[in-house]
Amino acid sequence: MSIPTRVKLVDVGPRDGLQNEKQPVPAAIKIELVQRLQDAGLTEIEVTSFVSPKWVPQMADNAEVMAGLQRKAGVRYSVLTPNLQGFEAALKSKPDEIVVFGAASEAFSQKNINCSIAESIERFAPVVQAARAAGIYVRGAMSCTVGCPYEGEIAPERVSYLAGLMKGIGVQHVGVADTIGVGTPLKVQRAMEATLKHYDINDVSGHFHDTYGQALANTLICLQMGVWQFDTSVAGLGGCPYAKGATGNVASEDVVYLLHGMGIETGIDLDKLVDAGKFISDFLERKPNSRAATALLNKRVA
Ligand code: HMG
Ligand code: MG
Repeated sequence: MSIPTRVKLVDVGPRDGLQNEKQPVPAAIKIELVQRLQDAGLTEIEVTSFVSPKWVPQMADNAEVMAGLQRKAGVRYSVLTPNLQGFEAALKSKPDEIVVFGAASEAFSQKNINCSIAESIERFAPVVQAARAAGIYVRGAMSCTVGCPYEGEIAPERVSYLAGLMKGIGVQHVGVADTIGVGTPLKVQRAMEATLKHYDINDVSGHFHDTYGQALANTLICLQMGVWQFDTSVAGLGGCPYAKGATGNVASEDVVYLLHGMGIETGIDLDKLVDAGKFISDFLERKPNSRAATALLNKRVA
């Protein structure tokens, strides 16, 4: 398999990034962040989640954020929907894509969505069916594919098992997530290979949190396997409320720098992306959690 010449990034910053923030982020700021990401050339943005506001208060403004978007042709807006209740609420916001989210670890499934893996699949099945009937693309997120905060290391067989269940209910694409960022390249490769037993290379993506600083290396090994779709988060925002200590996704800016440096096209304007990351980081009163953004911002000052 040769390295792809073009890569699609899904910026998950507005969702995965902001879901974990303690201070409230107004809907208007989230809407402006999405606007800046689409202006920077992102063609897919994970905007919000239709989950319980008691569980994740930061996403309670889901409908307001979706209603405020100035949608751009060619951009896909995705949202998380864990069950039919979430899907029905999301439908009114006309997402282009929905995401059901399961886990390769039983304990994480319980903590994150309050049910077992088998029960989660039972809940997702009618969501997938309804979404596909409505012409909405269905992605599945698979958490804890290399390690779990409660169970430790996760065997590739469990990833394969989950991918098979997702395929069985009609999920069209799956993301292989290293939720707590403990993966290293060979472990991530094995999780990806386990997924590829059930899904085509064109229907998988990588979703790597960068807790241990391994996410770029994990991205590179997936590129070498021919994977061409990745979730990244502007300014490296994020984490999961049910994965304590895990930091954000790999920064979009760092991945774009890597890809452009390798001559791989993304359609993204790195300078505008850095501006988007600076915008949200200024609001959150911190520096962007991205080495490439920091270097480029320092260079501007110099
Ligand atoms: P539950 O308590 O088992 O649900 O939660 P339930 O069906 O028993 O309902 C209980 C209450 O929740 C009811 O309200 C329902 O109306 C309400 P009450 O009568 O008590 O007032 N409810 C909902 N409200 C709004 N939207 C809904 C919904 N469903 C039920 N969709 C549930 C189950 C899944 C809802 C809950 O566990 C939940 O919301 N979990 C949040 C999980 C989450 O958002 N986690 C973070 C995202 S996943 C992630 O970050 C990982 C990822 O990035 C990949 C990776 O890195 O690994 C994707
Ligand atoms: Mg995540």
